[in-house]
Amino acid sequence: MVRSRFPLKLLFVGFGNVGRELARILTRKADYPGLTDLDVSVVGITTKSRGALARETGVDLARALMDLDEGGRFSPQNPDYSELASLEAASLLDYDVLVEMSPLSIENRGQPAISHAETALRRGRHVITCNKGPLAFAYKELRKLADENNAAFLHETTVMDGAPVFDLARCCMKGNTIRRIDGILNSTSNYVLCAMEKGLTFEEGVRGAQAEQIAEADPSNDLDGWDASVKIVALANVLMGADLRPEDVDRESISSITPERIREVKERKRRIKMVCSAWREGSSFKAAVKAEEIPLEHPFALVDAAGSIVRFETDLLGRILVTEENPDITTTAYGVLADLYALHSGNR
Ligand SMILES: NC(=O)c1ccc[n+]([C@@H]2O[C@H](COP(=O)([O-])OP(=O)(O)OC[C@H]3O[C@@H](n4cnc5c(N)ncnc54)[C@H](OP(=O)(O)O)[C@@H]3O)[C@@H](O)[C@H]2O)c1
Repeated sequence: MVRSRFPLKLLFVGFGNVGRELARILTRKADYPGLTDLDVSVVGITTKSRGALARETGVDLARALMDLDEGGRFSPQNPDYSELASLEAASLLDYDVLVEMSPLSIENRGQPAISHAETALRRGRHVITCNKGPLAFAYKELRKLADENNAAFLHETTVMDGAPVFDLARCCMKGNTIRRIDGILNSTSNYVLCAMEKGLTFEEGVRGAQAEQIAEADPSNDLDGWDASVKIVALANVLMGADLRPEDVDRESISSITPERIREVKERKRRIKMVCSAWREGSSFKAAVKAEEIPLEHPFALVDAAGSIVRFETDLLGRILVTEENPDITTTAYGVLADLYALHSGNR
C-alpha cells in the first residue's frame, strides 16, 4: 500500500542542476497551475561538499537556493543547516520519498546512489532516482527490495529526461512484450555529429556542446558511448527483464569519426547517429551502441542537436516511438514531478 500521508515528505540527495530546478519549480508553484494539487514538502537536502539542510516541517527552499547563489554552499547561519551526510540522512530522517540526484559513477558501479536507494527502501520509503546507476548496476536487487518493503522505486528522469518513456510502457503498453528497443539517447554525441554536418570540426562541436551546457567538462563518457550504454541497459533491464551491465554493451566511440566521413555520408543522403539498441536473442539479451548511417527518410534522421528518440518494437502494438525536442533542465525536473504524481495517484 502507498504511504498516503500528505504532504509527501521528500529528502533530496544532491542539489545540483536538477535539484535546484526542482526547488525553483516548487517555490514558484503558482506559476504552474497544473501543479496546484502537488502536495509535497522537502524535509532534507544533502550534498557532497556544500553542506546539508534538514527540518521536519520542511526546509526553506527559497533560502536554500539563495545560499547557493550567494555563497556556493549552504550557510551555517541558515536555521535549517545540518551536518548530515547523505547516508545518515537516508537512515535517520523522517521522509516518505528519497529523491536520488547525485551524479552517475560508472567507475564505482553506481555507488553511492545504490546504497542511498537501498537504505530508503529497507525502511519502506519510496525512491525516485534521476541517477541511472541504480538501474544499470542493481535494478533487480532494488526492485526486489522495493517489493519486499512495499515501497515504490521510480526512475522516469533517467532516460530522455521527463519524456514519458517508462510511464508509457508501464501504463499504456500493458500486455505487450518488448522485443527490441532502439534509440538516440545521448545529447552530446548527437549535438557534435550535427555540428560536424554543418562543417565544424569534432573539437568545435564538443566546445559548442559545452557552451550550451549540454556536455560536461569531461565529455568522454558521452562521446565514447558509456552514457548511451548505461541508458540502453537501464531500458533493457526495466522494460525487457534483462540483467545487463554497461560493460556487456558492444560499444563504439564517435571520436574517430572525421569531417570527411560525415561529408561523404551526407552526399549519400544519410546521417551518422549514435544508435543504442537492445534485443532478445533466444533466451538472452544483447545490447549495442554504434555509430550508424541512417537514411534521411528514417525517423531517427530527424533528431537534431540535443534531441532524443526511442523506439519500442512490441509483439501486440508494433512499433511505438517517443521523441523529445530541445530538452532543458525543466524537462529533466519534470521527470521527478511525474514520478511524484505517480505516487500521489497510487499508480506505481
Ligand atoms: N542535468 C540533466 O539534464 C540530467 C538529465 C537526466 C538525468 N540526470 C541525472 O540526474 C542526476 C543529477 O544531475 P545534475 O545535473 O543535477 O548533477 P550535478 O549538477 O552534478 O549535481 C549533483 C549533486 O549531487 C551531489 N553529490 C555528489 N556526490 C554526492 C554524494 N555522494 N551524496 C550526496 N550528494 C552528492 C553534488 O554535491 P556537490 O555539489 O557538493 O558536489 C551535487 O549537489 C545525475 O545522476 C544525472 O545523471 C541529469
